[in-house]
Amino acid sequence: MAARILLKNLQLIINMNTKNIMTGRPKLDKVLQDLQKNPYFDKYSRRIAELQSKNPDELVRRVEHQEAKIKKEKGPSVISFTNNTIKAKLILKCMRSLDLHLRYYATNAYENKYISTPIFYVNSGPHIGHLYSAILADAIARYNSMREDKVFLSTGTDEHGNKVEAAAMNSKLSNYEYCSKVSNEFRKMCDLFDVKYSHFVRTTEVTHQETVQHFWNVLDKRGYIYRGKYSGWYCISDEAFVSENDVTETVNSFGKKIKICEESGNPVEWTEEVNYKFQLSKFQNDLKYWLKNEKAVRPSKFHKILSKWIEDEYILKDLSISRPRSRVPWSIPVPKDNSQSIYVWLDALVNYLTVLGYPKNEFKEYWPPVIQIIGKDILKFHGIYWPAFLIAAGLEPPKTLLCHSHWTIEGKKMSKSKGNVVSPFEAANIFSEDGLRYFLLREGVPQSDGNYCPKTVQNILNSELADNLGNLVNRCVGRSLNPLGEFPQPKGLENVLQSEAADKLKKNLESLNVIASECYEEFRLHHAVDATMNTLQSANQMVNYHEPWKLRKAINNPEACDQIKAVISLALETARIAALVLYPIVPKVSTNLLNLLNVPRENRSWQDTVPTYLSSSEKMETKNVQNECLLFKKIRD
Ligand code: ME8
Ligand code: MG
Repeated sequence: MAARILLKNLQLIINMNTKNIMTGRPKLDKVLQDLQKNPYFDKYSRRIAELQSKNPDELVRRVEHQEAKIKKEKGPSVISFTNNTIKAKLILKCMRSLDLHLRYYATNAYENKYISTPIFYVNSGPHIGHLYSAILADAIARYNSMREDKVFLSTGTDEHGNKVEAAAMNSKLSNYEYCSKVSNEFRKMCDLFDVKYSHFVRTTEVTHQETVQHFWNVLDKRGYIYRGKYSGWYCISDEAFVSENDVTETVNSFGKKIKICEESGNPVEWTEEVNYKFQLSKFQNDLKYWLKNEKAVRPSKFHKILSKWIEDEYILKDLSISRPRSRVPWSIPVPKDNSQSIYVWLDALVNYLTVLGYPKNEFKEYWPPVIQIIGKDILKFHGIYWPAFLIAAGLEPPKTLLCHSHWTIEGKKMSKSKGNVVSPFEAANIFSEDGLRYFLLREGVPQSDGNYCPKTVQNILNSELADNLGNLVNRCVGRSLNPLGEFPQPKGLENVLQSEAADKLKKNLESLNVIASECYEEFRLHHAVDATMNTLQSANQMVNYHEPWKLRKAINNPEACDQIKAVISLALETARIAALVLYPIVPKVSTNLLNLLNVPRENRSWQDTVPTYLSSSEKMETKNVQNECLLFKKIRD
């Protein structure tokens, strides 16, 4: 409300000064609209209003000055930004130059998209939970690439801390050799499942260690780190202090009463030590501003959880960010204090900066991250500590945290410590890589846990990929119906089939790309698949209705000939669009299908998901297709 009144005032001020700012006014009007959408608007609107009322000419002068500067800096590439984007950037630069202590800001200024997965612990190898995070990120990245955005996808491994050291000890390898071995398994998983990362980071790399120490120094220089005494319940296996509320008492196998962390079930110890602390408590308001944007954390379920957490003083207590080196030797030392190790979570979170080359200027090309994908187990670290660290360092927090739930086996969370894990490599031997990608992304719903059951995987893959998609294509390219192996282009044939079945299919097909893109934008990938499967089903129904195999018998009748052509054409057009829409989910299957249909590489972007018969271009040449294909092999018992 206050913000609205201020905006009105702002507009009024501009109106009163029309004479002075004739040229700047339309620009400022739009800028103000953009600004109002900015989650930090309330915070700065009063000061902008004041400055504008005192000296509007000066403001406009600065806007123009900044505009010229951006143009000079960016050169012709500025054309690739939308006008609004330029304006939003301008006002933000102005706010900065007006010394508003703007420490961070949010706009939709970037078309470069930085997407990340968590970096995985190397205390044991990958399971399908890790695979899920990685392919979810990859699918979103592929969708955005199809929209012709410049995408940077990062993933990697988290290799420090006591849990990793203990696992290395068990393996009888040196710490580093052990980390390399398991890190390679994660990399192999990404490669095998087509997770097309731009950078795979390892926290044991020298560059990362330097980045973490630099980041530490930045926080320190800005006054957010102090030496303090810490006491509390410490959970060694979780490597975290646990709040009093989260500690409960239980009896161990020797009948002794012990305290455990309620969430993980691991034992806790009362610990007192001197270490470095981060002034987390100072960031409550900043976190609130960040969360004011409903889209900062998705789905909304996790936004609500986080909004509650940031009201909790205990959670926002100053955070201990170092450990005595004697207790955690396998980690990065605190700069200029070799007796302390940097808290592994601070170390791990900084990976998102390392991959972009921070602090070198080039990192700005992709900062802030557009979508950070995480599991719900690490929401607190990414939804509280991470944005607070960033804001403290003068950096903008991520635009969106996409938090997903867990895969369970018989209702239990799959985890390395429980030993009930499904290996992605073994599962892929049965279901293929794309089969597993399809199942996980089709059945996984971010807001609730998903159950992994091999029988369900088999049923879904057989009925959807092998039958619904595979059979449609097989029937239409097979020699009995299509001896010449042709894909007659739909333009000009779209009105040959006069039937409800054909009308229904066309209706589905014409809206599929709109529905699917909405689903991808909203991270409802399962709905994008649903819509595609419905369309494919309509295509199968259309083929069944027109019975083209019967029409083949009347091959000398030109009308029958046209009908066969039209059936094949519409069905294969459906397959073409389905392949494009499903490409982010099953890149191998889709690529095979697009190759089979002879779709040129340059016609595989999102804008090609519109049925070609709707385009204004001339009638296209009939294409040749392969007669034989096995898109997805049925999985037998
Ligand atoms: O927490 N279902 O690493 P981690 C779905 N190194 N996703 C799951 C899952 C399951 N059952 N189990 C794990 C760490 N995941 C830290 C992260 S980031 C700066 C540091 C996925 O190996 C999910 O994304 O325990 C979860 O957040 C992540 O793997 C944790 O992997
Ligand atoms: Mg974990």
